[in-house]
Amino acid sequence: MSCIQRADVYMFDEPSSYLDVKQRLRAAQIIRNLLNPDCYVIAVEHDLSVLDYLSDFVCCLYGKPGMYGVVTMPYSVREGINIFLDGFIPTENLRFREESLSFKMVETAEELIVDKSRQYAYPAMTKTLGGFKLTVEPGEFTDSEIIVMLGENGTGKTTFVKLLAGDTPDDPETKPAAFTVSLKPQTISPKSSGTVRMLLLKRIKAAFMHPQFNTDVVKPMNMENIIDQEVKTLSGGELQRVAIVLALGKPDTQVYLLDEPSSFLDSEQRIIASKVIKRFILHAKKTAFIIEHDFIMATYLADRVIVFSGKPAVAATATPPQSLLTGMNQFLASLEITFRRDPTNFRPRVNKLNSVKDKEQKSTGNYFFLED
Ligand SMILES: Nc1ncnc2c1ncn2[C@@H]1O[C@H](COP(=O)(O)OP(=O)(O)OP(=O)(O)O)[C@@H](O)[C@H]1O
Ligand SMILES: [Mg+2]
Repeated sequence: MSCIQRADVYMFDEPSSYLDVKQRLRAAQIIRNLLNPDCYVIAVEHDLSVLDYLSDFVCCLYGKPGMYGVVTMPYSVREGINIFLDGFIPTENLRFREESLSFKMVETAEELIVDKSRQYAYPAMTKTLGGFKLTVEPGEFTDSEIIVMLGENGTGKTTFVKLLAGDTPDDPETKPAAFTVSLKPQTISPKSSGTVRMLLLKRIKAAFMHPQFNTDVVKPMNMENIIDQEVKTLSGGELQRVAIVLALGKPDTQVYLLDEPSSFLDSEQRIIASKVIKRFILHAKKTAFIIEHDFIMATYLADRVIVFSGKPAVAATATPPQSLLTGMNQFLASLEITFRRDPTNFRPRVNKLNSVKDKEQKSTGNYFFLED
């Protein structure tokens, strides 16, 4: 609607929310097409790869949430995003965050020698919902791994996660998967009256009282600043943080199912949440299936990926878990997008359509990079 109006200045607040990767980039292209010599576009965006693709210049905002905010001068896209990640503005000689944020994938794997001892499997399944049919190919997985699910909107990702959580497939004879799960649903509707503290104590008391869980999850997810707030009055991002903590804290769980943990979180919280989830799963020797549309988060989190392909809202198939490289290549090839990696902080960057790199990578079938 905003795009079809004539204006001198167009403003977009989080255009990517809820959209899948393909639609995020398409929205970015449509927004860019608005540009002509006598207008400009301002956008607020939390998905760093979309921001990267969308903009010519970037202003960072920093400060204390709820207290004050400062807007920097415009920088070139690459410089602006790197300043944001680094937490340091060279032109002002100003540090606004203690630590810098990086996306090096080996980081967590190197810290831990992962010893995978448990094997799980789920059977071939189908599920029909109205006019939509999902086919799931059988798969196997182990502890200490994160499997990210990639697919367009309406290709059955949520449906698959619900099957893993115990929904009955079309054929009720299919033997259900045998593991205990904790599910963070895609949409969070708070039912409980009372404060965040009361909710955490009621639902995940043991974890909440546990020092390790506190250091690894509760603290970094910044529960402290909302702990005495009524659950019903929380903002979208605050609710999401509580929901992630609740899902990770559920007792006696082998497999964690997180449906779009990044929605409503800002860029910084996304990076923190990804690190929390990754560290938790590896330390606790558990498994997570994560549905994620934020490509940077998905790349950071994934040990392996499941790709959903087919016709959205009609019929789709979920592959077995496959290696990051082959899975990402398959997914990106279907979207006709290529990625490269920023040399400074290793974040994935979308190649502009038909750029030299884009053409080169497409001709060799390397839609995705691993370590350089
Ligand atoms: N109860 C239902 N009755 C009829 N159709 C349904 C039902 N639940 C889901 N669907 C349809 O099934 C398809 C797959 O839905 P699903 O929620 O699994 O997709 P998704 O991959 O999670 O999408 P998104 O990325 O938008 O979350 C959609 O087309 C949806 O409209
Ligand atoms: Mg979904």
